[in-house]
Amino acid sequence: MSNEEEKSRIDELTDMLSYYNHRYYQENFSEIPDLEFDLFLKELEQLEQKNPSLKRSDSPTQRVGGTITKDFATVYHKYPMLSLSNTYSEQELMDFDGRVKKHLGEEQFEYFCELKFDGVALSVSYENGLITQGITRGDGEKGDDITQNTKTIRSLPLKIQSNNVPHSFEVRGEAFMPKDVFINLNKQRKVNGEAELANPRNTTSGTLKMQDSSVVASRNIDCFLYGLYGENLPMKTHEESIQLLKSMHFNVSPTFKKCQNVEEVFDYINRWETKRHELPVETDGIVIKVNSLDQQQQLGFTAKSPRWAIAYKYKSESAETTLQNITYQVGRTGSITPVAELEPVLLAGTTVKRASLHNANEIGKLDIRIGDKVFVEKGGEIIPKITGVNVEKRTGRLDKTIFITHCPECNTELVREENEANHYCPNQKNCPPQLSGRIEHFISRHALKIETLGPRTVKGLIIEGLISNPADLFDLTFDQLLGLVLEEEIGKTKGRSIQKKTATNILESIEYSKTTSFEDVLYGLGIRYVGRTVAEKLVDHFLTIDKLMTATFEELIEAPEIGDRIAASILEYFADNTNLEIISRLKLAGLKFEKEKNQEELGDSLLTGRTFVVTGTFEGYEREALKKLIKSHGGKVGSSLSSKTNYLVAGDNMGPAKKTKAEELEIQILSESSFNKLLNE
Ligand code: IVH
Repeated sequence: MSNEEEKSRIDELTDMLSYYNHRYYQENFSEIPDLEFDLFLKELEQLEQKNPSLKRSDSPTQRVGGTITKDFATVYHKYPMLSLSNTYSEQELMDFDGRVKKHLGEEQFEYFCELKFDGVALSVSYENGLITQGITRGDGEKGDDITQNTKTIRSLPLKIQSNNVPHSFEVRGEAFMPKDVFINLNKQRKVNGEAELANPRNTTSGTLKMQDSSVVASRNIDCFLYGLYGENLPMKTHEESIQLLKSMHFNVSPTFKKCQNVEEVFDYINRWETKRHELPVETDGIVIKVNSLDQQQQLGFTAKSPRWAIAYKYKSESAETTLQNITYQVGRTGSITPVAELEPVLLAGTTVKRASLHNANEIGKLDIRIGDKVFVEKGGEIIPKITGVNVEKRTGRLDKTIFITHCPECNTELVREENEANHYCPNQKNCPPQLSGRIEHFISRHALKIETLGPRTVKGLIIEGLISNPADLFDLTFDQLLGLVLEEEIGKTKGRSIQKKTATNILESIEYSKTTSFEDVLYGLGIRYVGRTVAEKLVDHFLTIDKLMTATFEELIEAPEIGDRIAASILEYFADNTNLEIISRLKLAGLKFEKEKNQEELGDSLLTGRTFVVTGTFEGYEREALKKLIKSHGGKVGSSLSSKTNYLVAGDNMGPAKKTKAEELEIQILSESSFNKLLNE
């Protein structure tokens, strides 16, 4: 391609991908398959790398990050970012209404109510329809320039796709981590042996200040907009600002309501009190704004906040109960989590008996002691939290809590590395929950997926001395399994034990697990900080375990997305002879330790060029994994039956309509076992 051609292709790809992004994130419509989108994005990325000067400021490649900001510059806000005064009672809200009425005299006025999103305030500037700067609230007068990180927020347009765009303006809103994203992130961190994060708000704030924008992009931060600022803008009311924001395809929460008087405001408050928990974002109250911008100006500001708006905060549901004990859990990687054992108390509809105390710092901060009356809150309605101790009720002498010094499970002395909040049990080889945790991780859904082995069987096998590491699974025999008593049944006179059929199933699924891809095996090894994505990156870069095992620190950090911490953890793992021995036994057992060759290298198979439709549920596959498998063998996967379909792969519970249609179109129906045959041929 000539330079001219490359420029025009960059423009074409930028416009096309921006359009699809806009359709997807602003209009909730997916026009092209993800795979195709990713291919175009890759092409654009490569062209931009080759011609950095041709990269456009609205390039969709910025959504995936890639820039590193060492220090965020401090910049002044054009319009100060004020805060709101808070009210907690009906009376205080009536007082606010009284003040507004008094100030406006005889004039009619309306209120505009919105939810108060519990995230991080953000101000974003646009010039000529293009995003130019993103700034944190900071102290209200000046904040940090986090433009590159702001651009990773996918629902925030990089370029406004609408006709009615003011030349220059600023939007304000709340950046947040959706609740489900937060929950998944913490799940993943737990699996990776990392400390769990306290709440979505702090996580959002920390994420937006990260130096590596590609990590920010992976965190899926979102943003609701609620303010529009600029010179000579056309709107006369806040409602019109919201409409204008919507017309420019900013993400506006549809939860707002215009109210004619304070009674209607109370209705709004009551309506959202419980319903707000169904929203994707945490909320802690509502914001009431005078609708007319003229009237807002008349009302003006106090030193810190506007007189035309106020926040009404919902009482976060809190209860007082007694701390009966502090227990300590040992994770797969040996990390120790202190847990508050509480006298059961009803909170926001559920009985709370336990709450995480996170680590020794948290215990120190709360100065929490066994026997204390403590306040429990369900702030974000996600994890109950101990917010404080009712010191006045501390009767008699309660002993100061001293964090355990030895592992509660194996009595080994705990270690706490410099700058680490968590304590660890270093006895990786023999500490029982670490042993079972590692094996359970190895056979878990995203690793070897040996689902016939549940946690109770694993513990039973460990107690019987039959397994102590993942490689031992492949030496299990039918006779060893038959009659094995499950963990909690041990000692019972009629304890349930493994029967013939179960023993056969277990051995079959262990055998089948040998087809697991290298990336899933690597993830299953449970190397600290090597989650699924990191495992994929490592496999793509190093291709074989032998290359990964012999890589130096420098070679490791050269791989995409591998930083110092991960590299050090990988080196530590492979420096351990026991781990090396496990890997060599797993290799001998026939597990995959090399990246699978792609179709071009494999040559054609019976699936190549054929179109499949997959329906029902399967014993040996997740539906998505089956589709992936078909594609990896050169087949195509369609979503509905048509004259182009060659095979319908039918699992259990296939709908009768699909069956009839397949018969009408004379499409061959494959059962799971005939599909397997076709695959193996
Ligand atoms: S309007 C002049 N609307 O609350 C103040 N703020 O205490 C204009 N917030 O810094 C703010 N949801 O981070 C407004 N619907 C909403 C909001 C909202 C959350 C936050 C925002 C602001 C803080 C004010």
